[in-house]
Amino acid sequence: MSKTKLAVIFYSTYGTNHQMAEIAAEAARAAGAEVRLLRVTETAPQAVVDGQDAWKAQAEKTSDIPEVSHDDLLWADAYLFSAPTRYGSAPSQLRAFIDTLGGLWSQGKLANKAVSAMTSASTAHGGQEATILGLYTTFMHWGAVIVAPGYTDAEIFKTGNPYGYSHTQGAPFDESVRKVIGHQAARLVDMAGKIAG
Ligand SMILES: Cc1cc2nc3c(=O)[nH]c(=O)nc-3n(C[C@H](O)[C@H](O)[C@H](O)COP(=O)(O)O)c2cc1C
Repeated sequence: MSKTKLAVIFYSTYGTNHQMAEIAAEAARAAGAEVRLLRVTETAPQAVVDGQDAWKAQAEKTSDIPEVSHDDLLWADAYLFSAPTRYGSAPSQLRAFIDTLGGLWSQGKLANKAVSAMTSASTAHGGQEATILGLYTTFMHWGAVIVAPGYTDAEIFKTGNPYGYSHTQGAPFDESVRKVIGHQAARLVDMAGKIAG
């Protein structure tokens, strides 16, 4: 049987979602998937990025990671998105990429893909669930198969959020967090394999 192909697609201004995506990619590889770690193209003006040291440093740190393309979405059997909360919804950088996918959507190329999402926010209850649910609404339009973690791992009773892992800034990336992200990624790989039969 061929390996499940997973695209881990992240947008990260300050590094949190980048770190989450790296943990997920590693766990998915350990679960037997072929993984592409991909970043969403930055759309903010260069002057704005350069105007914040932390943003500029993160942009430079991830410049070698390939930018996600339509070909990646065609290649993959499963997608795991990770992006921060922006006023309770996904960042415009990710939405801008999603808004280029109308052609693939209209040809049914995004249908039946297994898909899941993670997010982060600076405060607890700062919009994490709304951000993930907003992305899931889009995935329903695609006809993708949403693979939420639910409470399928005991550790999720500690971290919370059955919709998808969400990080509150400042919290440590401890064993519990790594386990929950790894579980979400491995479960996505497993379900994508089941969908492929
Ligand atoms: C324009 C903007 C809007 C934001 N809106 C929220 C918000 O609604 N709730 C919240 O808790 N944090 C909010 N944040 C904080 C981000 O969610 C936080 O910086 C992000 O989770 C860090 O992820 P990253 O390191 O991957 O960029 C906002 C940040 C920016 C820049």
